[in-house]
Amino acid sequence: MSTKEILEKQHLEKEDIKHLLSTTGREMEMLLHKALEVKLNRLDNYVHLRGLIEFSNICRKSCLYCGVRSKNSKVERYTLTEEEVIECARLAHQLGYGSVAIQSGERNDPAFVEQITRLVRRIKEIDHGSLGITLSLGEQSDETYRQWFEAGAHRYLLRIEASNEELYYKIHPHDEQHDFHRRLACIDSLLNIGYQTGTGVMVGLPFQTLDNLADDLLFFRHKDVAMVGMGPYIPHPDTPLYQYADQIPSVKERMELTLKMIAILRLMMPEINMVAATANQTIDPLGREKAIAAGANVIMPNLTPNQYREDYLIYPDKACVSDKPEECYTCLDIRMKAIGHQILYNAWGDSVAFTKKKK
Ligand code: 5AD
Ligand code: FES
Repeated sequence: MSTKEILEKQHLEKEDIKHLLSTTGREMEMLLHKALEVKLNRLDNYVHLRGLIEFSNICRKSCLYCGVRSKNSKVERYTLTEEEVIECARLAHQLGYGSVAIQSGERNDPAFVEQITRLVRRIKEIDHGSLGITLSLGEQSDETYRQWFEAGAHRYLLRIEASNEELYYKIHPHDEQHDFHRRLACIDSLLNIGYQTGTGVMVGLPFQTLDNLADDLLFFRHKDVAMVGMGPYIPHPDTPLYQYADQIPSVKERMELTLKMIAILRLMMPEINMVAATANQTIDPLGREKAIAAGANVIMPNLTPNQYREDYLIYPDKACVSDKPEECYTCLDIRMKAIGHQILYNAWGDSVAFTKKKK
């Protein structure tokens, strides 16, 4: 079957996905163009913002790709005060972002769990609950997820990172703390509780094949998630996975592969929310614009106070580390207009797929 014929299909099978993932040049352009068309038809040209608050880089895990892994002793560890978090949330509200996302290294001691509950409640008090809240705080117990949901969080991001068990253990230590099945169970728990649940993977990892990537997309569809985040893998020199940095696709290839993943998923799941990850902009100055033009519809501008950002370098050279929130605000508005999109301010920007399913 030709690319053109595959792009007309209603339901993509694994072979179709693999075909699309291997397109280049004009055929790849056809795919990206089709995905944009589908997005504009179903979701219009809106881009939703989530003000990102990187709460703490203290983490109990040691993922082999991640710069803030607990075993990286070069990182200075920090945790924002509650007041700092609330300030960020107020700023998000003032800027009209509509939603905040709290992200952190993984901790699950009772003090942390309580602190997050308190923060969620306090953010909900700002202007009578006008801010949407996304959490991205790793693997937690069912009870903890419930407690945070009841406090007012309504979206949760937990990337599966790799939906293939074998690949998962090539990029994570194989021990009790990094358990593939537990991660799957967490995603199921979030879906069950009623969160708008997001997951995702890194693209261009060492050992990752097109077959793996096709399976990742099928996994998202099978789980019927509301949101997906996918970004290029960026080798961090202070991590064990860095030793394979010469075995991964080039920057250009990783960017293109990420765009193809986004575009194909937009065809498979036309109404989900998909983020144009900051990692895209790190490897390509126009990376986020390209992701939006390939079917993504969410951006997460960073609101973390600038003095902490250098310590939250999950990967090197993260974009916008020295930009002030107001600068990102103006910059994003201009950047989105330049590609024919508009930011929808003062709205939660929920996943349309999720909202329809709930009804
Ligand atoms: N390159 C790209 N993305 C990374 N992440 C972690 N480390 C890296 C890296 N080196 C992603 C993971 C995680 C998210 C917060 O950042 O997918 O879920
Ligand atoms: Fe931060 Fe452009 S989004 S400076």
